[in-house]
Amino acid sequence: MTIPELVETYKDEYIAIRRDLHQHPELSKQEFRTTEVVKRELSKCGIEILDTELETGCIAVIHGKGPGKTIALRADMDALPVTEETNLPFSSQTEGVCHACGHDIHTASLLFTARILQEKREEFNGTVKLFFQPAEECGAGALSIIKAGGMQDPKPEMILGMHCSPDIPAGMIGLKKGPAMADGSLVKIKVIGKGGHGAHPYRAVDPIAIACFLYCQLQTIITRENNAAYPAILTFGSIHGGNAGNVIPDTVELAGGLRTFNEESRDNILAAIERMSKSCCEAMRGTCEVTIKKGPGPLVNVPWVIDRVAEATKKVLGEDKIYNIEIPSPGGDDFLLYLKECPGAYFRIGTWDQTKPETGHGLHNAQNVFDERGMCSGVAAMSQAALDFLQDLN
Ligand code: NI
Repeated sequence: MTIPELVETYKDEYIAIRRDLHQHPELSKQEFRTTEVVKRELSKCGIEILDTELETGCIAVIHGKGPGKTIALRADMDALPVTEETNLPFSSQTEGVCHACGHDIHTASLLFTARILQEKREEFNGTVKLFFQPAEECGAGALSIIKAGGMQDPKPEMILGMHCSPDIPAGMIGLKKGPAMADGSLVKIKVIGKGGHGAHPYRAVDPIAIACFLYCQLQTIITRENNAAYPAILTFGSIHGGNAGNVIPDTVELAGGLRTFNEESRDNILAAIERMSKSCCEAMRGTCEVTIKKGPGPLVNVPWVIDRVAEATKKVLGEDKIYNIEIPSPGGDDFLLYLKECPGAYFRIGTWDQTKPETGHGLHNAQNVFDERGMCSGVAAMSQAALDFLQDLN
């Protein structure tokens, strides 16, 4: 059978698995039931599960008929601390937790892809490694798969992953060459002044006045110091200082994040934040402590891998199902860590239905409904891309 025929044959089974996972979401590092379901389904198909130190998640392997290349395919599995408001018959049964980022679809899709490739194992050489990755939302999961040996013995020569997109029509595959997702760096600034009476600011050093001034100045880095060819977003989502209207506090704390798509641009902005914080505070008689947690880098898709996914999409879905993504997403994903070790691509599967507004609320939204047609298209494209890669001797 061809891949589209296999997708058609098994789709109800895997949609049912997806809905079961959706009903039983689990937070990062707690994906115990999800891991059980994954292992059960892999075992049913006779797929080998590697013995690793992973507490949740797993690595599985499909062997082709002879030696050859290695490809890795990755799905994330964790849910979010969000209370579901979709009213779906298979809504989350766990209070306060739901699959608002579609990772249930990713997990079921990789199981489905594994089934297809296992059935076709006599048609290719080499190895398929399956990464059922825990803890994407907290940024720890990709590292745990890498530490568990995912990228060694054999080392993959290409890796693919996919993510739902409520911005792309269901049934389409979203592709973006080069930078596709942002680096996320964290910034904390503690402005240190000198507390006192609100009536005598001249005897104190007012950290609230300094923080207000500094906040505005920091935004000028984005427009005046960063090269506008490289987008950057600096958001401070938390500013805390003081307890009473007539008391000048000792300190104010600002916490925020920087999103960038280029490492040089990120490093320049982080250095400017440090420089400007120190000099603004000094100019206003205060001091500061700046704590920076540099992000792991942007997610950059390798062009030739995107070309391969496009070719596969054309074969199984048709050329009109390719959606060219123009603008990178300011969101982040730890998939980028695999891309530091081997070429690969992270592509999007459309889950938006124009006629159903509930499918367009966006990721991490409690009301968003994911159109399951996206799952079938994603499975077809990923399975074909993997098969083509392993059949191609170059
Ligand atoms: Ni996600």
